[in-house]
Amino acid sequence: MDENLIIHGDNLHALKALLPKYAGKIKCIYIDPPYNTGNEGWVYNDNVTSPIMQRWLTTNSPIDVEDLERHDKWLCMMWPRLHLLRELLSEDGVIFISIDDNEVHLLRAIMDEIFDARRIFPDGNFVGQFVWAAGRKNNARLFSNSHNYILCYLNNHEFLNQSGTTWRVRKQGLEDIYKKHTELARKHGQDFPKIEGELAAWFKGLPDGHSAKRHRHYCYVDSRGLYHASDASAPGGNGARYPVLHPITGEDCVVPSRGWVYTEQRMNALIADNRIRFGADETFVLTVKVYLKESEYETPYSVFYKDGRAATKRLRSLLGKPFPFPKDEEVLKPLFEAVTGPGDIILDSFAGSGTTAHAVLALNKEDGGNRKFILIECEDYADDITAERVRRVINGVASARDATLRQGFGGSFTYCELGEPIDEAGMLSGETLPSYVTLANYIAYVATGSSLDAVARREDFFFGETETLRFYLIYEPTLAFLESNAAALDGARAAQIAAQCKAAGKKAYVWGAHKFMSQKDLTPMGITFCQLPYNMHPVTDG
Ligand SMILES: C[S@@+](CC[C@H](N)C(=O)[O-])C[C@H]1O[C@@H](n2cnc3c(N)ncnc32)[C@H](O)[C@@H]1O
Repeated sequence: MDENLIIHGDNLHALKALLPKYAGKIKCIYIDPPYNTGNEGWVYNDNVTSPIMQRWLTTNSPIDVEDLERHDKWLCMMWPRLHLLRELLSEDGVIFISIDDNEVHLLRAIMDEIFDARRIFPDGNFVGQFVWAAGRKNNARLFSNSHNYILCYLNNHEFLNQSGTTWRVRKQGLEDIYKKHTELARKHGQDFPKIEGELAAWFKGLPDGHSAKRHRHYCYVDSRGLYHASDASAPGGNGARYPVLHPITGEDCVVPSRGWVYTEQRMNALIADNRIRFGADETFVLTVKVYLKESEYETPYSVFYKDGRAATKRLRSLLGKPFPFPKDEEVLKPLFEAVTGPGDIILDSFAGSGTTAHAVLALNKEDGGNRKFILIECEDYADDITAERVRRVINGVASARDATLRQGFGGSFTYCELGEPIDEAGMLSGETLPSYVTLANYIAYVATGSSLDAVARREDFFFGETETLRFYLIYEPTLAFLESNAAALDGARAAQIAAQCKAAGKKAYVWGAHKFMSQKDLTPMGITFCQLPYNMHPVTDG
């Protein structure tokens, strides 16, 4: 099975199904749940057992603005899912949640509770409430309220503090600038003033909001490349004062009133390395060259602008049909870039049109990474919208403006329907028997509270271990096997297990349908027998 997954099903069940294999292994979660505007028609359909709760939850479903309990229902929907998401996060994991003014205040309250986030990073797990300004609505009656939020929480801030983690993203728009520079260098060769003139005009002509425009101060050029001319005076005043000779006139250059930011020795090294930009003569204040190539990364900013309509338009042309309010892969990509490394897993349990997978694949293509994605979507469009978008992004989109997307980002994924949950009654009757690996993963997770790395069926039914315990599951998913003697823990098998445990200095837990030995005889051999399907519960070491 491919490691990239798109799962069709309700995320409450899908997240539970992911726990045995992925608990503590997801580096980054991005979710964009229904905002609960009252107009989305989302239905609260969790399978709660209490009849009173069921009646309360289904009244007025789908949930509309008139429903006075719509906030309670939304919180009931989110609460267990957020708990499960935290279980899936790695120690150094991060969760981002898109939301708007309808629920942000309540979401923050439950996130603070579920993520133990009473304080702001570095003292707590709350990182920030980022603001995404998405364009003006000039027909608004009072204010043009056109922003939404991305909440960011850590699983464990202490982990990030100890590792000294910093988040950085590559500045956007650089490719356009480099492309223009290459074009001008081809045209004008070493005539830097000409290149600078045309470059400045190009920057000026870019529309407001173009990602390259923010870097228009990188409008100077020398043989090393593009740079901006940075102030060389000491920011707080009281800087060093020493003479700097102008290279052409040989006179002392003007010293800024605040003094130099560098020591004399450092200044001389910069001059020798051609990193100081002198004016036409000594009367001009000199500046320091800061090259774009050497400052491509920046700290992500908590407030940003990105036109909300652009992603909708791109997606419509990619899919050939509309999808309401998709998020923008160009916004998600830098988030994933900042917090994940090449092999990390990124999960989105409210996948919609699959923007998260698009962003992950684009990022991998850009930096050669091998990040994986897991998407969950409950609607019937999981295949023909969510997965279809990802297929197209992988294989290439002929109509795309971006050349890399035209070619396709490459990759693959597995599309799966959420199977039936493991149900003990069904196991008893033999009606629903899970596969060996599914059951072993489940047992290991329930037994240890964490997932084992690689679970596979072996001849001797061993399937995994902790530092002190070895785990065995005598099982095949057929009633014929389970009712046969082959499914029993007998003397020969117990002796083999005991010998393996002795060699490893560990004890064993053995799950099986029946045994031909008493627990009294098994205990001295270091074996605890667990009857299937009843004894699927935590085990204690030792
Ligand atoms: C706001 S949309 C997400 C849009 C997405 N970020 C994009 O860029 O296209 C929310 C999505 O979550 C899905 N969803 C809602 N409840 C769900 C549930 N319980 N399980 C799985 N998906 C769910 C909805 O069907 C919808 O597609």
